[in-house]
Amino acid sequence: MAETWPGTGLLLRSPAVELAPMTAELLDALALLLPDDIELDPAVPLPPGEVRAARREAYRTAVRRDREGFDPDGWKLHLAVRLPTGALAGVQTIEAERFAAERTVDSASWLVPEARGRGIGIRMREAVLALAFGPLAADAAITSAWRDNAASLGVSRHLGYRYERTSRLVTPERDGELVHLRLSRAAWLASGSGQDVLVTGARPELFGTGP
Ligand SMILES: CC(C)(COP(=O)(O)OP(=O)(O)OC[C@H]1O[C@@H](n2cnc3c(N)ncnc32)[C@H](O)[C@@H]1OP(=O)(O)O)[C@@H](O)C(=O)NCCC(=O)NCCS
Repeated sequence: MAETWPGTGLLLRSPAVELAPMTAELLDALALLLPDDIELDPAVPLPPGEVRAARREAYRTAVRRDREGFDPDGWKLHLAVRLPTGALAGVQTIEAERFAAERTVDSASWLVPEARGRGIGIRMREAVLALAFGPLAADAAITSAWRDNAASLGVSRHLGYRYERTSRLVTPERDGELVHLRLSRAAWLASGSGQDVLVTGARPELFGTGP
């Protein structure tokens, strides 16, 4: 894996969190922190062996695959999340399909258990929304979560996402209801969120947008 993701030099900083594109070194460190309750990408089969080691390897494979497949027409950017102490706390992902036409981003995230429930999930999502609605000029952000994922739904609610619909989803790990939410550009701007997020090094052309 090359040393940095597309968007070299991108950095999202707020008083609460710092987000930087994954490097090979960060990926190794974060794979070691991968919590047992994080659902992995079902498109990447679990390699044989002890479960925790296999999950880490599948996670690394998925992130590397997203890096190699990064394309302005369909991209998935994984950002390492650091706390002001310098400690790595998790990963915030932002992604889009046909972004130039759709202008819509999706997101996913995880935190190590000891960092949860302290408002960090809100701050890291807010940081990528500042990138999306700022330099990338998105029109909307969508997200989805299992109906019982109160923390994920809480992050979205806090940032002003609105309920759209519920769907059924069957994965290798569960069969359940997924709640779909949406945040419009107008709602984001009206909320005043993201004002203390400093975005540097964004290159919109890499994401299929820009001047
Ligand atoms: C989802 C996740 C990133 C959220 O981050 P977090 O730091 O724990 O969440 P926050 O502390 O920012 O809380 C966000 C909101 O949800 C609420 N909340 C958090 N945990 C909650 C819980 N267990 N039950 C009910 N509400 C909860 C908070 O009160 C807050 O709402 P408010 O500010 O309006 O009061 C984190 O919990 C996590 O890593 N979970 C496991 C992985 C996962 O499920 N990822 C999402 C799927 S992609």
